[in-house]
Amino acid sequence: MAKTKVLTGITPSGTPHLGNYAGAIRPAIEQSWRDDIQSYYFLADYHALIKGHDPERVHRSSMEIAATWLALGLDTDQVTFYRQSDIPEVMELNWIISCMTAKGLMNRAHAYKAAVQSNEENDIIDPDKGVTIGLFCYPVLMTADILMFNADKVPVGKDQLQHLEMARDIASRMNHHYKTGFSLPEALTSENTAVISGLDGRKMSKSYDNTIPLFAPEKKLLKLIRKIKTNSLMPGEPKETEGDTLFQIFSAFASEQEVAEKQRQYQEGVGWGDLKNQLFEYLNNHLKDARDRYEQLMQNPDFIESELKKGAEKARAEAAPFLEKIRQAVGIRPFP
Ligand code: TRP
Repeated sequence: MAKTKVLTGITPSGTPHLGNYAGAIRPAIEQSWRDDIQSYYFLADYHALIKGHDPERVHRSSMEIAATWLALGLDTDQVTFYRQSDIPEVMELNWIISCMTAKGLMNRAHAYKAAVQSNEENDIIDPDKGVTIGLFCYPVLMTADILMFNADKVPVGKDQLQHLEMARDIASRMNHHYKTGFSLPEALTSENTAVISGLDGRKMSKSYDNTIPLFAPEKKLLKLIRKIKTNSLMPGEPKETEGDTLFQIFSAFASEQEVAEKQRQYQEGVGWGDLKNQLFEYLNNHLKDARDRYEQLMQNPDFIESELKKGAEKARAEAAPFLEKIRQAVGIRPFP
C-alpha cells in the first residue's frame, strides 16, 4: 500500500519554545515513527526572509530548530529532513506555478490583507507600504514546497488553512492546463494538540514576546516559570485550574493521573510559589536529557549540517526527476 505523504515546514525565525513543542514538534516526531506514513520535514528558510531581514537570526534559528528536532529523537533515516534552500527545484517550481497563479488569489491572502489593513488603520496613504513581493507571493512558495513532493497531508496551524486552499487551487489549475498530475494536498489541523499560554497568559508566541524556550538552561527555566502570571490568591485558598497557565503547561506534559493529582492540589489551596517550583521540577526532569543532547548538537554544527545534507540528497532524488517532467509539460525542454 502506498504510504500517505505528510509534509510540513518550520520557518526559522526564532528559538523553539514550549508552545512549539507541544503544538507541533512533539506530534510531528511521534508521527515520524509510524511506518504507514512517509514524512517530510523541512526548515523553511526562504520563508524566514519574508518575516525578517536579520541574517544572523535566520542562520542561528535554523541551527537551533534542526538541533531541537534531532535532540528530540527525529529519525532521519525514516523521514526526509531537509532545508528548503538546499532544494533548488523548489524555487524553480515556485516560478512555474507563479505563472499560473491569479494575482487576485494572492490579493485575498491573510498576511497581505492584514498588512494593508494595518496601513489603512494608521492612515498611511500607500496601502502597500512595507509589503514586499515576497510577502505578497508567500502562499505560492508554500504551494511549491508542498507540490514538489506531492504531499497528501500537511499539518499546519489554523492560520494556514487558507494557504492549503490556495495550494489546491493552484495545483488544480496546473493539472487542468498542463496535465501535471499534482496531488491535491489537504490540511491536517489537530483539535487536540495542546495550545500553551505564555508568561502573560496570552497564547505563547514569539510575536508576544512571552515564550519559554524549550531548552532554556535550568536557571533560566526556573526564572521564567517564576514570572508566569497568576492571580493573587493566597496559600490555603482553593484555586481554579481552568484558565491557569501553570496548570495548562503542566497538563501538556503530564499523564492523566498526574493531572488529576495536580487538580487536587489546586483544590487544597497549594500556594502559587510551590506550584511554580513543582512545575519547574517536573519540566526540568522531563526535558533534561533532550536538553543535554541539544547542547551537544549545538556544539557540533558539522553533524547537524551532515544530517541536513543527507536529507537534501533524499529530497532531491525525488524532486529533480519530478521537476524535469513538469518542465517538459510546460514546454521547457531541449530541441527538437
Ligand atoms: N508558512 C508556514 C508557517 O508559517 C511554514 C511553511 C512553509 C509550511 N512552507 C510550508 C508549512 C509548507 C507546511 C507546508 O507555519
